Order: sequence, then structure tokens, then C-alpha cells
Amino acid sequence: MRVGVATLIIIGAVAALVALGVTDHILPASDPRTLAVRPWVAARAMGITAYLLFGLQVVAGLVLSHPRNTSEWRKTKQVFPWHEMLTVFTWAFLALHIVLLALDEYAGVGVAGALVPGLSVYRPIPVALGSVALYALIFTAATAKWTRLLPAGWWLKVHRVAIVTFLLAWTHAVLAGTDGAALTPMYLATGLPILAGTAHRWWTARVRPQRAVSAPTSSLTPYGRPAPVAVPAKES
Ligand code: HEM
Repeated sequence: MRVGVATLIIIGAVAALVALGVTDHILPASDPRTLAVRPWVAARAMGITAYLLFGLQVVAGLVLSHPRNTSEWRKTKQVFPWHEMLTVFTWAFLALHIVLLALDEYAGVGVAGALVPGLSVYRPIPVALGSVALYALIFTAATAKWTRLLPAGWWLKVHRVAIVTFLLAWTHAVLAGTDGAALTPMYLATGLPILAGTAHRWWTARVRPQRAVSAPTSSLTPYGRPAPVAVPAKES
């Protein structure tokens, strides 16, 4: 995955705006308490944005890996760049979410609480789910980038664990978020269709009749694109 200059500029601009927003430089706070809770409020907004981007990323992944995509829809060319771009922006907003919560005293998380599951003073178990989701995301991203880390044919199987990561992030958001209850409609409206989409893909893969001649799985690259055929060396 290549991250272009434009993407880096956008991410840098968002980070700069957040940094300015949480300090007193551009928008002076009306009272000390408002100033004190700004990083925490920004962290929550970043978390919600990261969650929504992650949801879209999973939807794009479901379209790419759906059995019908390789035979009928053929949307890989259009959807794959979105899947990659959403990955980059999910990471950017997630990084802001975690850094702000780890550094903000009001949040009661701390650096150790963010990185080591169970060490957060604020809601240890729900926050731990977020940390585990983070590590699962790192694993999914690393194995997707360096597919050779895994034995042949394992890449896509392992990548499908991403849906478990989404469930972890979903549970974390609902239980850790101060607005978990108020935002329930949003979490249901995003979580349930993704769950239904996953079930649909799984079901389609199960009931779909196998083609008479199918390529061995190991010859398929990510998302079912056939690997380039090796050209035999010419005989001299
Ligand atoms: C090291 C990893 C993580 C840590 C330490 C962490 C920490 C937290 C904390 C402390 C809260 C509660 C904020 C509050 O007081 O309301 C929270 C909420 C939230 N987090 Fe995370 N989180 C992590 C990973 C994630 C991940 C992977 C996602 C999703 C992609 C995510 C999305 C959210 C969302 C949507 C909320 C709800 C915001 C609200 O309603 O207040 N977090 N997180």
C-alpha cells in the first residue's frame, strides 16, 4: 500500500487542527473545565470517526472477498483502492484517538492503560477490548502487507479474522464510550448490516456450486486474482 503526498498532507492537516482545537491558541475556552475536557472530547470524536471508517473498510473488504465479485460483479478494480485508502485513514484517526486518551489525565487511561489490556483506571475491561482490537488490527494489516509472513494459502483465511476485530472494536465502543447508550442507534445501524453482510458472504460461499475446474487456492493472490503464470525458459 502506497501512501501518497496528498494523503499525508490531509492527515497532517487533521492532526494539526485537532492539536489547535484542544489547546487554547485559536479557540480560547470560556472556562478552565471546558479547556480541561477538550482533549477527551476530541479523542472521542476521533474514536467515532475511526470506528465509522473501519466499518466502511470492512464493507469494502466484504465486497472484494464475496464469491460473486470474482464471477459477476467484478468490482475489485474500483473497490480495492477504497479499501486501501480507508485503511490509511482508519489508522490516522485511531492514532489520534489513542494518543489523546493516553496523554489526557482526565480520561484516566494513561500510556500503560492504553497499551496493556487491563491497566486502564477508567473502565478497564471495555478499554482492554480496544487495546486487543488495536493489536488485532496491527496483525491484520501486517499480514496483509507482508503476505510471505504466513504459509502459502493462509493469507486470506487470516485476513477474515478482521471481522472479529470489528466485533471487538464495536463492543469496545459501546461499552467504553460515554455516549455508548446515546449512540446505540448508530452502532446498531452500522454493526447489524456488517454482520448481515458477513453472514451473506459466508452463506453464498457455502451454497455456491463449485466450478468443474477450479484453480488451486495457492495460485490465487489476494481477492482471487490469479497469480501470473510462470513462462517456461526457452530451450537453446
Ligand atoms: C489501544 C487501543 C484503544 C484504547 C486505549 C481506547 C480507549 C478508549 C476509551 C478510554 C474510550 C472511552 C472514552 C470516553 O470516556 O467516553 C473509548 C471510546 C471509543 N473508542 Fe476506543 N480505544 C482504543 C481502540 C479503539 C479502536 C480500535 C476503535 C475502533 C476502530 C475505537 C473506537 C472507539 C469509539 C467509537 C469510542 C466511543 C466514543 C464515545 O462514545 O465516547 N477505539 N476508547
